[in-house]
Amino acid sequence: MTLTEITAEVANRLSRKRYAHSLAVATQAVKLAALHGENPRRAYTAAVLHDIARELSADRWNDILPESRFDLYRNPPVLLHGFAGERIAAVEFSIDDLEVLEAIRYHTLGFPGMGKTAQIVFVSDYISRDRTFVGEDFRCRIASLSLEEAVLAVIDATADYFMKTGRSLHPDTENEAAFLRRKWK
Ligand SMILES: [Fe+2]
Ligand SMILES: [Fe+2]
Repeated sequence: MTLTEITAEVANRLSRKRYAHSLAVATQAVKLAALHGENPRRAYTAAVLHDIARELSADRWNDILPESRFDLYRNPPVLLHGFAGERIAAVEFSIDDLEVLEAIRYHTLGFPGMGKTAQIVFVSDYISRDRTFVGEDFRCRIASLSLEEAVLAVIDATADYFMKTGRSLHPDTENEAAFLRRKWK
């Protein structure tokens, strides 16, 4: 499929609001790819598809992902949507670029050692234009950081927010932050 065909099919499958979000994340991802010398086509493809499974039901996510290794992500079931999205991208959009698939898979929680495209989509999903809770100062700061530092800044911002609402980070997100901090020691 061409990028135009993929984008049109994403528009077909998602609500207006989710489609607008997907495009905003794709625009942001292309900018970050350009900034860090990464492949913009890859970044766009992964970003435009990242929430392709977000509007399916929990039953549907469980149907797509029956394996017990996904049990870690069934509560709350929304944590499954990246993994389900990866399968849909592979099977229904014929995406075979492993970096693109990885980026869709890990966009919600991050994962220790995830690649550059996954880092781009993870950060873009947080700072895209439609995210009204993100200030311009934070977007500017992200643009001045390496991709790895940007991932950590997004995790730290999420952790701050979670603290206020009495939630804690998922172990995958904690492990990604620990992985990055260890790397820089
Ligand atoms: Fe998502
Ligand atoms: Fe998203």
